[in-house]
Amino acid sequence: MDTRPFRSVLYIPGSKERALEKATGLATDAIIFDLEDAVAVDEKANARRTLAQALQTLDYGARARLVRINALSSDWGAADLEVIAAARPEAILLPKVDEAAHVEALARLLDARAETADTRIWAMMESPLGVLNAHAIARAPRMAGFIMGTNDLAKDMGVRFRPDRLPLMSALQLPLIAARAAGIIAVDGVYNAFRDEDGLRAECEQGRDMGFDGKTLIHPAQLAIANAVFAPSGAEIDLAGRQIAAFDAATARGEGVAVVDGKIVENLHIVTARQVLARADAIAAMTE
Ligand code: COA
Ligand code: MG
Repeated sequence: MDTRPFRSVLYIPGSKERALEKATGLATDAIIFDLEDAVAVDEKANARRTLAQALQTLDYGARARLVRINALSSDWGAADLEVIAAARPEAILLPKVDEAAHVEALARLLDARAETADTRIWAMMESPLGVLNAHAIARAPRMAGFIMGTNDLAKDMGVRFRPDRLPLMSALQLPLIAARAAGIIAVDGVYNAFRDEDGLRAECEQGRDMGFDGKTLIHPAQLAIANAVFAPSGAEIDLAGRQIAAFDAATARGEGVAVVDGKIVENLHIVTARQVLARADAIAAMTE
């Protein structure tokens, strides 16, 4: 699994030169350069060229860079891949993935070109069929992560927006479980009301508690909240350190369990504690 942080994953329309430039300095862990739904039909050709140029000339540092192409079955997907391949993309994000065959088809196209020998594939989880096939999709060739497409899912399932997202819960959890079983990243969907900080924070906290690695975002104003919520807190880092110390001391005494703050600490808690510290280190490395 990718060990970089994915707390904040910012969509940028490939057609917006100003935003493409701005993103080199934004505190986002990852970027989705979009050629699909954020780009109008008349702008598709222009966006591809603008984006290919940006990827080849701008420095996005350690940030993960995903290019969302149009579906290969659409009028634009093949041309998107053709132009973007020249920029040696780190990852292609495939929209509307309904079944593993969609990923396999893209993987074959990537296999056929030297420039995309190392390109990973991410899949949008945004259709009822995709959600039901998440297990097979997560195990398809080159797969590195899932991005939840909650707006498309809500549309296809007929759910209404509710702050608690109860109507979407199974559709969020199935792909998440599939991602964890396959050892790939899973990032939560967007929060549309990008000026509503309290609503965003609540939804980030829900996604974090469910186990998502981070949240997809549409506006730079959302970055600070996602980065804070999906980072281990000071209290969590402190507790992890004390659990490891207590467990080491217990082990030295020949005991298999320790007690910290009135709670039992076993081997499995130490795995979590080490993950918390590793995540904190990865975030520190990202922000250096
Ligand atoms: N990535 C990078 N920079 C962005 C950005 C983004 N997604 N959205 C806005 N910005 C920049 C703008 O370029 C502007 O920069 P500047 O002031 O230095 O020129 C600044 O942030 C403020 O932008 P603002 O005026 O508040 O936003 P807007 O009204 O121009 O745009 C949106 C609002 C929602 C249209 C725009 O944020 C956007 O296009 N988001 C992405 C949508 C998307 O990709 N959707 C597909 C997936 S759901
Ligand atoms: Mg979509």
